[in-house]
Amino acid sequence: MSKMKFLPLLFFYGALYFQLVLGVRFSDDFFVNFGAEHTRQPDRSATTIQLGLNNVSGSGFRSKYPYLYGHLSMKIKLVGGNSAGTVTSYYMASTFKRWSELDFEFLGNVSGKPYILQTNVFSEGKGGREQRIYLWFDPTAKYHEYGFMWNQELILFLVDNRVIRVFHNTKDLGVPYLEYQPMYIYSSIWNGESWATRGGLDRIDWEEQPFLASYTGFNLRDACAVTSNEASAMHHCYKRLFRSSYGWAPNLALSPAQIEDLRWIRKRFMIYDYCTDRKRFRGRQPPECSRNWP
Ligand SMILES: *[C@@H]1O[C@H](CO)[C@@H](O)[C@H](O)[C@H]1NC(C)=O
Repeated sequence: MSKMKFLPLLFFYGALYFQLVLGVRFSDDFFVNFGAEHTRQPDRSATTIQLGLNNVSGSGFRSKYPYLYGHLSMKIKLVGGNSAGTVTSYYMASTFKRWSELDFEFLGNVSGKPYILQTNVFSEGKGGREQRIYLWFDPTAKYHEYGFMWNQELILFLVDNRVIRVFHNTKDLGVPYLEYQPMYIYSSIWNGESWATRGGLDRIDWEEQPFLASYTGFNLRDACAVTSNEASAMHHCYKRLFRSSYGWAPNLALSPAQIEDLRWIRKRFMIYDYCTDRKRFRGRQPPECSRNWP
């Protein structure tokens, strides 16, 4: 009997927990930065947003603040059905001239055919580090979590908490690292039909519009926002880095399980890897590659 009494209480705290931890409102940390008329907020608590694309425009959102280091994520359910030609991107980018950028780009496909997830890393304005994989699940059937873990030693690209890519600090090999530029978090959906699906063979079928990608589970608790232009705001993030779990062992190196993840990805899901594109780099592998594949 007494157990029954606890149920409402449990429910109450459960709901509170949901509000506080899982139910972060979109507008707490983000705003729509283009194509507002093509977005939707389907739930009243505003913990979910949908970005839409039609033949007039796409849409996108951005974080209010840029972030310097952290472990962050969001949950995304991609455009279902015939999404050929659509590109849904989720990325972090600085606004300086020699910018840094970390990209997830989801390339749609005709019904029943797999999306491609393309990732890229720009440091000091230099990109050209594309990798392409298939996912091990249907990203349109339900929400999956996508995120980054970024500290002074490495950057992880995470899908449902599995590492699909690592970019190590290889300054010792002459490769600039992403270390002094805070980056905003962006997402957008846009028309990429000239290249995205089978190299542009499958175009967007506008009969299917609007194309909607859904977002929820915005998680920035463990990331450091740079909230002003003052030097002290960045300094705060360096200090936080050395006090946080993301900036401390064991997060400064890959765990054995993460190494297994990367090998599994490479063996089972890899479509393209700039590191093995011999023609492109005339047989000279970019220096960071030696360290980024365990
Ligand atoms: C779409 O499906 C085809 C197979 O029909 C596949 O070759 C291609 O990699 C898939 N993805 C994209 C984005 O083109």
